[in-house]
Amino acid sequence: MARLTDVAERQREVFLEQARHCDGRSPVYADLCRRLAGEPRVARLVRGWARDVPLRLLGGLHYLVLAGEARWDGVDAALAAHEDFLRRFVAEQPVQTNEVQRSWVLLPCFLRVAERAGADALDLVELGPSAGLNLVWDRYRYAYRAGEWGEARAPLVLRGEERGPVPGSLLAQRPCVRRRLGIDRAPVDVTGDEGARLLECFVWAGQDERLRRLRLAVDAVRRDPPELVRGDFVELLPEVLASRAADALTVVFQSAALGYVDDAGRTRVRRVLRREGRRGLLAFVSAGRPRRDEPVWGLRIVVWPDGEREFVGHADYHGAWIDWERA
Ligand SMILES: C[S@@+](CC[C@H](N)C(=O)[O-])C[C@H]1O[C@@H](n2cnc3c(N)ncnc32)[C@H](O)[C@@H]1O
Repeated sequence: MARLTDVAERQREVFLEQARHCDGRSPVYADLCRRLAGEPRVARLVRGWARDVPLRLLGGLHYLVLAGEARWDGVDAALAAHEDFLRRFVAEQPVQTNEVQRSWVLLPCFLRVAERAGADALDLVELGPSAGLNLVWDRYRYAYRAGEWGEARAPLVLRGEERGPVPGSLLAQRPCVRRRLGIDRAPVDVTGDEGARLLECFVWAGQDERLRRLRLAVDAVRRDPPELVRGDFVELLPEVLASRAADALTVVFQSAALGYVDDAGRTRVRRVLRREGRRGLLAFVSAGRPRRDEPVWGLRIVVWPDGEREFVGHADYHGAWIDWERA
């Protein structure tokens, strides 16, 4: 059994590290992490001290706050009153985020794919969609320096910083989405209150704009929810692609999902895409880290039948900025 001093030391370490990540981004979380770093009641809730324990515990507390069962200025009382709920939440609920702002950096990639393939209709397959907020990207409005794109009256307007501008010619593309399917090992059903609250609770306290965007995106999903299949996308992608329609461009895409898969799994995904690309209309859009040590995303697309890979730019991993490469 771990000695008490080792437990206390590890608790301090993970909470103080999380506090540094929260500094400047969520003062409430930064303060709480520093306070909980030495709180004995926290040790009673936690079995192992993985790095994500503080975010799991804060997520559980936020879930209670959103449900009206706890308050940020009464965390001590919540730790006592909801001990069983919080212990289960920390043990069983991985951090679950679905960032709709990422659609703002994905849209130009989808438009580029449509341009290259000359496609009017797209069938979407998202790897690791969580709740599918980015599977309904065509229900949002987008603002770029060269112009706007999307439904004029969409309640959610996405904008960000353009370090390299998105070309106006791309924004003239108007593909329509015909079908949307996501494969996730833990899909979140936001058609009910519990699923929506689960996504909301992992937005850090005080990030009100992010919460507002999330709620508007949930409304957009609820209008006509995409099909979310539960399972491992490495295993299921071959059969999903084998049964795809021949009369539309199937666009497989991922953001912040392939990074969770090991090298062998990523190789299998690439192999099935190449094989299926030889068989018919297919494209792949990937937003992920260019190299392991860089906290910046690379945006890459591949369009078959030629299978030419195209690097189209860099982006912030939450979609706050884009640096588009092409003239
Ligand atoms: C960090 S979230 C990103 C969600 C969304 N793509 C976004 O950008 O907002 C990663 C998602 O990928 C899913 N995931 C990770 N590996 C997976 C796998 N091998 N098969 C299916 N889903 C997976 C997780 O369950 C989670 O919902």
